[in-house]
This record gives sequence, C-alpha cells and structure tokens, in this order.
Amino acid sequence: MKLSFSSILLLSLSSVAVAQNATNLSSSLNFGTHYAVLNLDLITALVSPLSATPAGSEFISSVSRWIDAVHALPSRPLTIFTRIFFSNARRPEVGPNAPFAKTIAGLGNATADNPITEVFPAFTVDEAGGDVVLQKARFYAGAGNALEEILKTQGIDTVILSGIRTSGVILSTAYHLFDLDYKVYVIANNTIESPPDTPGINDAILAGIIPKLPANVITLDQALAAIARSGPAVY
Ligand SMILES: *[C@@H]1O[C@H](CO)[C@@H](O)[C@H](O)[C@H]1NC(C)=O
Ligand SMILES: *[C@@H]1O[C@H](CO)[C@@H](O)[C@H](O)[C@H]1NC(C)=O
Ligand SMILES: *[C@@H]1O[C@H](CO)[C@@H](O)[C@H](O)[C@H]1NC(C)=O
Ligand SMILES: *[C@@H]1O[C@H](CO)[C@@H](O)[C@H](O)[C@H]1NC(C)=O
Repeated sequence: MKLSFSSILLLSLSSVAVAQNATNLSSSLNFGTHYAVLNLDLITALVSPLSATPAGSEFISSVSRWIDAVHALPSRPLTIFTRIFFSNARRPEVGPNAPFAKTIAGLGNATADNPITEVFPAFTVDEAGGDVVLQKARFYAGAGNALEEILKTQGIDTVILSGIRTSGVILSTAYHLFDLDYKVYVIANNTIESPPDTPGINDAILAGIIPKLPANVITLDQALAAIARSGPAVY
C-alpha cells in the first residue's frame, strides 16, 4: 500500500490523539455495563513460589485488592477464574509430547482435588455469589472450556485481565479475545512473569506488544477508578 502525504499526516495526527487520550485515561476510563473480569491461572502451584519475592508479594496484594474491590461492587460484573488441572491422573488433556507439556511439567499429574491446582488462598473465589471457575490445560483462557460460550451468552463486550504469566495466559488470551472483537484491558500490576528472573519480558509485553494490538494496558489504580465509574454491570 502506498501512503499519500495526507494519510501520513492523518496517521501522525491520530497517534497524537491516542497519546492524549492515554494521558487522560485515568479520569475518563469506563468499562461500560457488559464487562467481565478474568482472573487467570492464579493457582497455588504458580503463585506460591512467588510469594517470597518482593515483586511476587506486590503482585499478590495487587490482585487481591482488585478481586476484593470487584466483589464489593453493588452490581457485580461476571467474574471468571481459570485453573489448570487434569481430568484424571493419566493427564488426558496433554500428552507427554505436546509442546504445552513442558510448560506445565511442574504440575505433574495434578487433578481438581490437588491443592496445588486450587486458586491461591489470598484470592477470594465466591462461586455461590456468581464467580465462575473454569478448567484449562493450555495457555489460552478459553482452551477446551466454556469461556467463549459464557461471554457470548452474557453479552460481554469488554474483558479485564489479571493473571500469571504475562507471556503465557495473558498474552495468549489478549490475542484470542481481541480477534473475537472484545475490548481487552490488561492490568499491568496484576500480571507477572514466572520465574521472575526473565528481565525485560514483562515490560516488553506490557509496554510494547499489547499496546501494538492495540489492546489496553492500565494500572490497578486506573482499573479501580474505572469500576467505580462503570456499570451497573449486567450479569
Ligand atoms: C479520544 O477521545 C475522544 C473523547 O473521548 C474521542 O472522541 C476520540 O475518538 C479519541 N481519539 C482516539 C484517537 O482514540
Ligand atoms: C486531555 O489531555 C489533553 C492534553 O493534556 C488536554 O488538552 C485535555 O483537556 C484533556 N481532556 C480531558 C477530558 O481531561
Ligand atoms: C502421569 O503422567 C505421565 C505422563 O506425563 C504418565 O506417564 C504417567 O503414567 C501418569 N501417572 C499416572 C499415575 O497416571
Ligand atoms: C501499578 O504499576 C504502575 C507502573 O506500571 C505504578 O506506577 C503504580 O504505582 C502501580 N500501582 C498501582 C496501585 O496502580
């Protein structure tokens, strides 16, 4: 495609507008009424090893603040947690030679009743109050479960992602749901790499790759301010 001088001018004008809007995001961000909160792979096997590190404990306290704030809303949005576990000890979802097998080697043959596959205890899951918990055994939050069916049935148009890892479930889910026409927000404070000793990856994804989609990376403070402005959530 050839770009004329005027379209180049338009492009650069629009990136100025985007930058200005990004600056103003904290005072205007609103998730609307059909938004869902996705809390991904926050299981003990993945979260517990981080709790001893400063970055890990900040992540845990940020995510739990977010979950509690969402639960405290007068009209709660749809909240979905994912957990990684296998249907039985033969691990039928992931054969030994599947590429994903390497990634979850640490889980062994863990099934639903294994405590390492439970949501980490610092995070409140309120299934009686409407939270949904889905099983998965791939990176994408909707792999092999009812995620897309639920989002569609509930008329969701906007999703807000938290979870572990940034380069795994967060990135994969941001791409999948972006392609399915959802407005995607990622809370930067609520994502982390694991192990945390991969310098640069977290920032490269949050500051470089996700905005390039373009999907939105916001801070916990912006997300908390936005839920106060949004809704009443329809769910
Ligand atoms: C910036 O925000 C204004 C007001 O919310 C909106 O009308 C405009 O389309 C936005 N511009 C871009 C480039 O997103
Ligand atoms: C957004 O930021 C721009 C640039 O700082 C400013 O001119 C504009 O008034 C702001 N808009 C709002 C709604 O705060
Ligand atoms: C656990 O999974 C491995 C494949 O990863 C399999 O070889 C082994 O038999 C499984 N153990 C049990 C108890 O099913
Ligand atoms: C979240 O992360 C940003 C940097 O990405 C930081 O400036 C901010 O203090 C963090 N905390 C909250 C509560 O937003």
